[in-house]
Amino acid sequence: MPDVLEQFNQTGEKALADLQQVDSLDALEQYRVQYLSRKGEITGLLGLLGKLPKDQKPAAGQLANKIKNQVNQAFQQRQTELSSGKTKKSGPLFDVTLPGKKPNIGAKHLITQTTDELLEIFGRMGFDIGYGPEVEDEYHNFVALNIEKSHPARDPLDNFYIDDTTLLRTQTSTMQIRVMETRTPPIRVVCPGRVFRPDTVDATHMFMFHQIEALVVGENITMIDLKTTIDQFIKAFIGPDTKWRFRPHFFPFTEPSGEADLLLKDKHGNESWVEMGGCGMVDPNVFKSVGYDPEKYTGWAFGFGIERLAMRKYGINDIRLFYENDLRFLSQF
Ligand code: DAH
Repeated sequence: MPDVLEQFNQTGEKALADLQQVDSLDALEQYRVQYLSRKGEITGLLGLLGKLPKDQKPAAGQLANKIKNQVNQAFQQRQTELSSGKTKKSGPLFDVTLPGKKPNIGAKHLITQTTDELLEIFGRMGFDIGYGPEVEDEYHNFVALNIEKSHPARDPLDNFYIDDTTLLRTQTSTMQIRVMETRTPPIRVVCPGRVFRPDTVDATHMFMFHQIEALVVGENITMIDLKTTIDQFIKAFIGPDTKWRFRPHFFPFTEPSGEADLLLKDKHGNESWVEMGGCGMVDPNVFKSVGYDPEKYTGWAFGFGIERLAMRKYGINDIRLFYENDLRFLSQF
């Protein structure tokens, strides 16, 4: 082998051997200057070619290029290893003794949790559960509930109409009709679900929220039953010292009607009343629309906001928090 090729091979071997000793990125940079920069030893091999006799040039050129590529490749590999910490000195990439990362697993949304809890409380009081459609007809949302055509609640601007007679239900009271249409008394049922109203969104209003409707129908059912049931469920759900009040109101489908408010105390001890929803004794006209004899049966109903109940129980002051899907909020419950 001509001397020059021998010399090339030696330089290449030395370069590769030296690379094995490089154990830091700083050392790697020194290495690059020594071998691969413009004046480096490997680059220098190509410079030597010019000085060779013509007949040696092709073989020497080929070899110089081969060595240069080999060293470059080895250099890049070393660079990757050092940058990713995969070197003998820095040890294995993983410490298998460290505790693992806990994967994020889903959980029930606070509204679902609250609904489950309410259903459980009412279940203990002997209520069963009814579910019905969110897309409703005017008959179940208004007509059968004694809400006349001229009633302001039927204004198209206050409802999400889908066509002339179909809308997204504005209240779970629709379920009073749907349950009574298909069953005969005695009835004791709760119906949770979503309702929709084109309200301007603020801390206490949403265009979609949840209600839980309760309906009890039988012989000799009185307002005392209504008040006792509300009192018992409020105390079971929020706590035995919870204060609530009963306030007269008007609803077309109950007579007499009331609204129930919960007492809210903020962190400074200030008290205020928050409305939970409406209730009352089922209006005889509603019984007539489902073919029940109003002389024989009496009943009561209520429809309370589930978000309101959860807000009171957990001290949440803005209904929008339920629907922003912010895990910092949701994962607290
Ligand atoms: N549906 C009424 C509302 O959304 C609330 C309501 C009032 C429900 C009286 C009732 C009731 O069951 O008897 O405002």
